[in-house]
Amino acid sequence: MSTVLITGANRGLGLGFCQRYAEAGWQVIACCRNPEAADQLAELKQQYQQVQIYPLDVESFPEIDSLAAHLSHEKIDVLINNAGVYGDNKDRGFGQLDYQAWQQTLTINTMAPVKIAEAFFPQIKRSEKKLIVAISSLMGSIADNSSGGSLFYRSILFAIKNAH
Ligand SMILES: NC(=O)c1ccc[n+]([C@@H]2O[C@H](COP(=O)([O-])OP(=O)(O)OC[C@H]3O[C@@H](n4cnc5c(N)ncnc54)[C@H](OP(=O)(O)O)[C@@H]3O)[C@@H](O)[C@H]2O)c1
Repeated sequence: MSTVLITGANRGLGLGFCQRYAEAGWQVIACCRNPEAADQLAELKQQYQQVQIYPLDVESFPEIDSLAAHLSHEKIDVLINNAGVYGDNKDRGFGQLDYQAWQQTLTINTMAPVKIAEAFFPQIKRSEKKLIVAISSLMGSIADNSSGGSLFYRSILFAIKNAH
């Protein structure tokens, strides 16, 4: 059975990925900040036995390491770094930027995907597919940036693209 690990799995695109992979018969390692509040994920797990749910706040690098150690026996075919935040605050634009929030955004959207890839690399190497996916956005495109703004979100996605 093929295995996918998905971060930010409790809602939005992450939950959608979990649903599609579960339907396709994959083992799904669904990671989210607060499994106890992840009702839709819990429903999916009831429907598909091969769905496993683990707590993971990607901002916490020790948590990433400890989950990777806990799952050291696994083979991961596809790793989807989906968890992300917008980060920008429309009330604190240029002139009053919140650099702490920017740093947090960079940690979650830019460094964490690389840290997760590093931590789970042994499990990925064991598979044949060896696919590490980072979800980017059109907003990360320099060519497409005609509207400006969203400094935190655009900067992080640009950095993720460069990492590829
Ligand atoms: N939707 C779009 O149109 C679109 C377009 C381009 C790119 N994207 C990218 O696609 C990804 C998913 O987008 P989405 O629309 O599904 O976003 P979303 O609905 O806002 O969901 C974001 C997910 O990331 C999780 N998350 C945020 N910070 C986290 C952290 N520190 N640790 C673990 N999980 C964390 C959230 O968990 P909580 O529920 O705990 O907050 C949630 O599960 C993002 O990376 C986004 O930048 C989306």
